[in-house]
Amino acid sequence: MSDPAATKRLYIKTYGCQMNVYDSERMADVLAPLGYGVTEDPAAADLVVLNTCHIREKATEKVYSELGQLKLMKQARAGEGAEMTIAVAGCVAQAEGEEIMRRQPAVDLVVGPQSYHQLPELIARAHRARGERLAADFAADEKFDALPTERRPTGVTAFLTVQEGCDKFCTFCVVPYTRGAEWSRPAEAIEAEARALAEKGVREVTLLGQNVNAYAAPDDEKGGGLAALVRRLARIDGLDRIRYTTSHPRDMDEALIAAHGEVEELMPYLHLPVQSGSDKVLKAMNRAHTAESYLRLIDKIRAARPDIAISGDFIVGFPGERDADFEATLQLIREVGYASAFSFKYSRRPGTPAAAMQGQIAEAVKDERLARLQALLEEQQAAFNLSQEGRVLPVLFEKAGRHPGQLIGRSPYLQAVHATAPDRLLGQIVPVRVDSAARNSLAGVLELETA
Ligand code: SAH
Ligand code: SF4
Ligand code: F3S
Repeated sequence: MSDPAATKRLYIKTYGCQMNVYDSERMADVLAPLGYGVTEDPAAADLVVLNTCHIREKATEKVYSELGQLKLMKQARAGEGAEMTIAVAGCVAQAEGEEIMRRQPAVDLVVGPQSYHQLPELIARAHRARGERLAADFAADEKFDALPTERRPTGVTAFLTVQEGCDKFCTFCVVPYTRGAEWSRPAEAIEAEARALAEKGVREVTLLGQNVNAYAAPDDEKGGGLAALVRRLARIDGLDRIRYTTSHPRDMDEALIAAHGEVEELMPYLHLPVQSGSDKVLKAMNRAHTAESYLRLIDKIRAARPDIAISGDFIVGFPGERDADFEATLQLIREVGYASAFSFKYSRRPGTPAAAMQGQIAEAVKDERLARLQALLEEQQAAFNLSQEGRVLPVLFEKAGRHPGQLIGRSPYLQAVHATAPDRLLGQIVPVRVDSAARNSLAGVLELETA
């Protein structure tokens, strides 16, 4: 256990998106005053929290198989006269809490993404009477008010949730159901959290939201959007880099585009999922943009910030996707030129409109399309990395590298960069000359040894 004051052991396993990573950290913060210190060993844990993801079927199934393992560990601990409380949190808890309790009786409690600030109380109740379960609600504002203001960042980069929920209702997606309606935190609270992080040595924050660019400050009469928030945070001493994720093309407003050209702290990297390059499929997905409008948007963003690295998400095999639709996706990818991307086979999610659509695509076809799509995206990523060879990039060193004497950090474009560098450069932004590029990382040498 890292915290000497801890008397009980907490094991948290996180699935899914960065918001779950943030939530897991905050759950540890909520539980620390009760004496829980984080352990990496589930078998030795007094409390296990699975922070789950419902986005695709595989993600959900993983939770049930993990719970099967945990049940055995719980029994083993019981044999030694020790207890293990098992809590399931996150989006699967929200979507199918009752099913979890039914399928796996070893689970003591289930808590949705907007209710984890109540964990201490729930755990106490579960210890009194097994089977206690929280009715999941969407009172996100209450959650943030109830969380401890204190965070214990473990590095020089940190996530900061600014917005939650989604009103877009893409027909394939569970997020509007698991995370509720779009809701933004007050700018003042976000600034306070960012300042506290900067005081603890954090140099880079990534602002998080399921639709982060739909951010609208509730405490700003002018309805300050994400651009205003970015400008506000950029003024904080010590906070040198700002990123944000994930954005919807529909909410990419002029102010935010302009900020990319003007705010030095805003990193030249944008994750802007398009999902498909076929207008027919985009319409069936309820994406509210076309391939053309997405391409024009990218043009505008590149006019503001020519070197910006674009990243995206893609789904292949959405119901009704014909070969020609898939080809249109490949064509869009060729036109954009992605620096990185995430791509998935369409997964049928219970309760979503697309699950009931005609024209579900055979798994073999999805496999074939995904392989072709990924080959193209990997080619583009390799080309983007190669284009950095010989350039000098400012790298924020975050941690020790795999080899002694080596540090690893990130370029402004979010590429991993490793270089031989002394430990004292950890947490510093240092010019590094890139001398070789691989698909997933860059290798470089310090441009000038700083004294
Ligand atoms: N709010 C973000 C992230 C949503 S989830 C956004 O709108 O981009 C992250 C990605 O998972 C999505 O962009 C989409 O590409 C993928 N995804 C969501 N539902 C899916 C499903 N049913 N099957 C396959 N991929 C899915
Ligand atoms: Fe899901 Fe679409 Fe909302 Fe993203 S914008 S979270 S893909 S419904
Ligand atoms: Fe998964 Fe929920 Fe995030 S479904 S992707 S953990 S919002």
